[in-house]
Amino acid sequence: MTRTILVTGAQGFIGRYLVRALCNRGDCRVVGVGRSPGNTTRFTHTIHPGGVERAAPLPNALVPDAPNYAYVATDLSDAAAATQLIAETAPDIVFHLAGSLRDEPFDRLVTNNIVATRHLCEALAAHGAVLVLGSSGSIYGELGGGGLPLVETGATEPIDLYAATKRASEDIVRIATRAGRIDGRVARIFNVVGPGQEERHVAGRIASQLTELRVGRRNGIALGPLTAWRDFIDVRDVADALVAIGFAGTGDIFYNVASGHETQIATVYDLLVAAAGIADPPLTPLPGRGVDMARQVVDVGRLRALGWKPRVDLPQSLGDVMQYYLELETKA
Ligand SMILES: NC(=O)c1ccc[n+]([C@@H]2O[C@H](COP(=O)([O-])OP(=O)(O)OC[C@H]3O[C@@H](n4cnc5c(N)ncnc54)[C@H](OP(=O)(O)O)[C@@H]3O)[C@@H](O)[C@H]2O)c1
Repeated sequence: MTRTILVTGAQGFIGRYLVRALCNRGDCRVVGVGRSPGNTTRFTHTIHPGGVERAAPLPNALVPDAPNYAYVATDLSDAAAATQLIAETAPDIVFHLAGSLRDEPFDRLVTNNIVATRHLCEALAAHGAVLVLGSSGSIYGELGGGGLPLVETGATEPIDLYAATKRASEDIVRIATRAGRIDGRVARIFNVVGPGQEERHVAGRIASQLTELRVGRRNGIALGPLTAWRDFIDVRDVADALVAIGFAGTGDIFYNVASGHETQIATVYDLLVAAAGIADPPLTPLPGRGVDMARQVVDVGRLRALGWKPRVDLPQSLGDVMQYYLELETKA
């Protein structure tokens, strides 16, 4: 049976990898959604390889060329547009990755993370599709779960407004699911690493600065504290995890999407420096965030119980991030 799968945020970082994973299955019709016009060459964010701003190009492996893929431009903050989208596409599974990221203005966080999720849930209530919400591991906060490891049944205490809006979007999905209106699942995604990623995430930021250093546009690297420990997961493993959650029979609502391994940010830095082929670059420490989490140790037992296993280890993942930048440096 061919299923219709909707991916919101399809031209974003995770969305592009998820679309590829779904198209590769060969058993579904995939419809991508975002506000911007459809394109086959770039992500929706910009990067600065060698200090020059440009749209982040799509790695060749992600160019959507499959006959079973289509893209529809729709703003999900418009209730009528969301209703029309669901009525016209009649999806079996919706992966909801559209949203605004950390540090964006509060009104955009509310509109794109909370309001859009509510509209999607309302539109889906009449249709009976599975909804997988892309949430964030940051909703746990420093005290989440009453300690470590972070488990899905533990407490959550968002430490910033981004995490607070992701937590609110989770609540919207949970309430609609418990009321029997939708079949909702929540993927709490931790620190994603992969080629093409935003520079506001630490691996992208380091790789970008290393490229500037290589082309002589800066003298050293300037970064916040490298002491925190995080769970990093490759974006291709995130895509596999979302597929496992979306295609699972009914079960739990909440799933941690992480590698299950704790890594200090200093190790990420060292691996990227080695991949860039630069010996011991000068490092200037910058102040960290006012409030931050010192450690994240994540229980991934629920995800593994679905049959998911990570395929890409951290050195490979970071090597691929650096290689993406090195190829752009050569082309510049
Ligand atoms: N990347 C990470 O490390 C990470 C970690 C944890 C959780 N997450 C969550 O995972 C999801 C995807 O993350 P990402 O890194 O792929 O983000 P991203 O690259 O910013 O992609 C999000 C996409 O959402 C679309 N969008 C935003 N508002 C929309 C709206 N009102 N209607 C329709 N489309 C809209 C944007 O495309 P247009 O501009 O074309 O609309 C954008 O491409 C997000 O919800 C994020 O919070 C990400």
